[in-house]
Amino acid sequence: MDRGISALLGGPQQMSFGERAALDGVLATLRPRLAIEIGTAEGGSLRRIAAHSDEVHSFDLVAPDPEIARIEHATFHSGDSHQLLPAFLAELAEAGRNADFVLVDGDHSADGVRRDIEDLLASPAIGETVILLHDSANEEVRRGMDAADLDSHPKVVHADFDFVAGYVFREPSLEHEIWGGLGVILVDATAPREPGLPARQRRIVETATLLREARDQRLSPGLARLGARVRGRLAGRR
Ligand SMILES: C[S@@+](CC[C@H](N)C(=O)[O-])C[C@H]1O[C@@H](n2cnc3c(N)ncnc32)[C@H](O)[C@@H]1O
Repeated sequence: MDRGISALLGGPQQMSFGERAALDGVLATLRPRLAIEIGTAEGGSLRRIAAHSDEVHSFDLVAPDPEIARIEHATFHSGDSHQLLPAFLAELAEAGRNADFVLVDGDHSADGVRRDIEDLLASPAIGETVILLHDSANEEVRRGMDAADLDSHPKVVHADFDFVAGYVFREPSLEHEIWGGLGVILVDATAPREPGLPARQRRIVETATLLREARDQRLSPGLARLGARVRGRLAGRR
């Protein structure tokens, strides 16, 4: 199942086709010696990470099913990432090792996302690393990403929280909710950001903001128009 269409579509998947294609593209270029995943679930993303990596460490609250536990190159860490991840990163740093790739897809609360990002960035083991963040378009997840302090880490050389867009759902169980999206944080301690430059670019209106506004507009066009007028007047007074 490691080649062709089945590699992109097969197996249990919690990611969209675009997200999987982007994940595979990044991994194929990077070919990580050491990768980390937060959020194993049914092993969908883990299978792709393991296919491209020499060694992957996957964290989840619960132990993996036997079939997932057989994935080659994978080691499983069962428990809360907020406890286990800092200790694991400290072990890597102690051994002088670098994690080349991380997928953050575990705790989806705003505070949980912020903590996972900040724990990663605080570690010397995250020195030359591509960090991908799943469900970056979701409002709760995005609040956590926005709250993470990237600017205080010069080793963060690029961050784009919408490099793959998310979706507004129509199906009844998720109606009007926004899920999906991939964000990226690129870390390179060997060539840090120029002093004074922000980690995130400010030139664009972020796609997650546009998705949210479009969803609100569909829900209540009159309210959205009123909100835009009020915001316009307030801006005029400044
Ligand atoms: C969206 S699923 C992961 C999907 C998987 N990455 C994929 O694409 O196939 C989120 C997983 O994160 C786990 N999780 C939630 N909070 C966690 C935490 N604090 N520490 C570790 N894992 C957590 C959940 O048990 C769940 O299995």
